[in-house]
Amino acid sequence: MTNEKQILFSGMQATGSLTLGNYLGALKNWVNLADEYECYYSVVDMHSITIRQDPAVLRKRARALLTLYIAAGIDPEKNCIYYQSHVSGHAELAWILNCFTYMGELSRMTQFKDKSAKHTDNINAGLFTYPVLMAADILLYQANVVPVGIDQMQHLEITRDIAQRFNSIYGDVFTIPEAYIGKVGAKIMSLQDPARKMSKSDENPNASIYLMDDPDSIRRKCKRAVTDSEGVILYRDEQPGVKNLLDIYSACTGKSVDESVKEFDGCGYGQLKEAVGEAVVSVLQPLQTRFKELEKDKAYIDGIIRANAEKAAYTANKTLRKVQKKVGFPERIR
Ligand code: TYM
Repeated sequence: MTNEKQILFSGMQATGSLTLGNYLGALKNWVNLADEYECYYSVVDMHSITIRQDPAVLRKRARALLTLYIAAGIDPEKNCIYYQSHVSGHAELAWILNCFTYMGELSRMTQFKDKSAKHTDNINAGLFTYPVLMAADILLYQANVVPVGIDQMQHLEITRDIAQRFNSIYGDVFTIPEAYIGKVGAKIMSLQDPARKMSKSDENPNASIYLMDDPDSIRRKCKRAVTDSEGVILYRDEQPGVKNLLDIYSACTGKSVDESVKEFDGCGYGQLKEAVGEAVVSVLQPLQTRFKELEKDKAYIDGIIRANAEKAAYTANKTLRKVQKKVGFPERIR
């Protein structure tokens, strides 16, 4: 890592099985950007407990997610891959930022509205202040850029608002981060209801392609994808199912949407679905193979976890100490 590079931060929750949406909207861009930036990729396990979790399952999923980051092609020697809960600065900064965030702002967050409607028996304060912890994640590392899918844009905007508010009182403490949204794949929709985003928590297993799905399931899910009765392959809002398939195809093959539309000119939906299935398989199969190899190497993964937690904590503490001083906490006596 050199100091000349700009800083990139992003994270994912270890809740549920990761979907193709997570991969195409975020993880794939992380890999592409890794060389250009000094990168911090966190497994945000603290965010996960805003919804009730089975502790053993969460632990297992968090480790699998960290391994998956590496399997996807992020070099853990050059990039900092770590668990959020291993760096206490996240919680400490989140507390301070809570005092610079308004209830009104948080009440407008669509994710809070959706999740509280879904988990009516557990509308906890953590769910409400979730975006503040996310702001702390990003601001602790003075990130310039945050690659995410479109669904996280609102959280990025509140992060910028909080940072600007803090800076306007205390001077230039935080870098104001920019979202990085990929050209294709930033919002992959459900295969069964293309009006909704593909989500880890969807109850219908045919709605999502999971990163660990076997090739036959992937092909079958693509074949069953909901389309329409128009019978033409065009990229337009009136055909959300076809549009989504073209997005997936383009993101998996690296072709532009225009190129993909031309390629399928005159084809039927069956051909499109088959090609999408093959494109997804060819992206996910190498990732799965690498994941299975890495998973076995316990000592290697443990080493990464240990070294990177230290590296992340070092950077995080620098920002935290600065912030603590600014707000007036007494200096530590050594
Ligand atoms: P999470 O875990 O829900 O999703 C991880 C990433 O995947 C993207 N994504 C999608 N992209 C395209 N199409 C979809 N259907 C789709 N579904 C999910 C998300 O936009 C995200 O980039 N709050 C965050 C995690 C987080 C974070 C952060 C992210 C915590 N702190 C700091 C960036 C920076 C979340 O729940 O993502």
